Amino acid sequence: MMKVFITRRIPQEGMKILSQAGVCKVSLWDSDEPVPRVELLKGVEGAHGLLCLLSDKIDTEVLDAAGPNLKVISTLSVGFDHMAMDEIKKRGVRVGYTPDVLTDATAELTVALLLATARRLPEGVVEVKNGGWSTWKPLWLCGYGLSGSTVGVIGLGRIGMAIARRLKPFGVKKLLYSGRTAKSYAAEVEGEYVPLDTLVSESDFVVVSCALTPETQGLCNKDFFSKMKNTAVFINTSRGAVVNQEDLYQALSSGQIACAGLDVTTPEPLPTDHPLLTLKNCVVLPHIGSATYSTRGIMAELSANNLLAGLQGTDMPSELKF
Ligand code: NDP
Ligand code: DGY
Repeated sequence: MMKVFITRRIPQEGMKILSQAGVCKVSLWDSDEPVPRVELLKGVEGAHGLLCLLSDKIDTEVLDAAGPNLKVISTLSVGFDHMAMDEIKKRGVRVGYTPDVLTDATAELTVALLLATARRLPEGVVEVKNGGWSTWKPLWLCGYGLSGSTVGVIGLGRIGMAIARRLKPFGVKKLLYSGRTAKSYAAEVEGEYVPLDTLVSESDFVVVSCALTPETQGLCNKDFFSKMKNTAVFINTSRGAVVNQEDLYQALSSGQIACAGLDVTTPEPLPTDHPLLTLKNCVVLPHIGSATYSTRGIMAELSANNLLAGLQGTDMPSELKF
């Protein structure tokens, strides 16, 4: 039997597939909390397969600890910025991931976050509870609407496109996008491929849905925010490290931009005394883009099937080609 290490409790759908396959002996970090580094290094020793999460840093040390048996790493995520891809490639280890199956859930959450941020829902809920709601007031809790707006999507990939599709029917007038290449499928949403600077300065809503790479790390910085409209809404559901959070804090507290909604931060969790959490115009969610019951179940199934294919040397349902 081949040895598999799983770094966290995952939905039963995935565990069932692995136990029924009868080809591997699974050991699991049986907790909802992250595996401590020392336990991860112990757990992977001699493993043929590793099923990990986006919060596990899979670097040379982990690969060395696993040793030469390791054939496959299956991550329960579409993002793979937590893994040292060059090192993994060098060792001929295959990688499975979970694209597509979480696209709808993540796009839906992005729209929810955008509306909650722009229309100030969390502030409104607090006011109702604390007695701040005295009467209907014409100038109270006004925000920004999508109708007639320009939306800019940074990274019109699977999720970016699904966000654009959902936002268009709100009456968005112009949809801009930026990335490394123009996309023919953008025609469906009448998307205009523009340089990043144009997107940033013309958009009423800037939505970040690109992958975290060395090029996108810190992309949203002081210079970026200084080009945005004072009335613009900034939304990030990609990875926290795409944003320079000190610069975002300055932009939000000085009125350089109107408000921001973040599903991802650096670090995660964001410490409860973080300056961003003191701002009324910043809505922070705990990285729940893909968090629907069914999506997480399907992600677990897919990552289990990817793992099995990697162990058995067969085609993976979703193999990362790199
Ligand atoms: P895709 O690979 O389909 O899309 C990624 C996009 O990033 C591509 O369109 C790519 O553009 C773009 N990109 C890459 N480099 C740059 C760059 N330098 N500037 C601008 N854009 C760039 O991935 P998905 O849409 O499936 O997922 C995107 C990301 O969303 C994931 O990597 C993950 O980090 C995050 N995510 C977050 C979730 C959450 O819970 N909040 C849930 C799921 C994913 P191009 O094609 O032109 O290179
Ligand atoms: C991913 O898959 O990359 C998300 O961040 C979590 O679903």
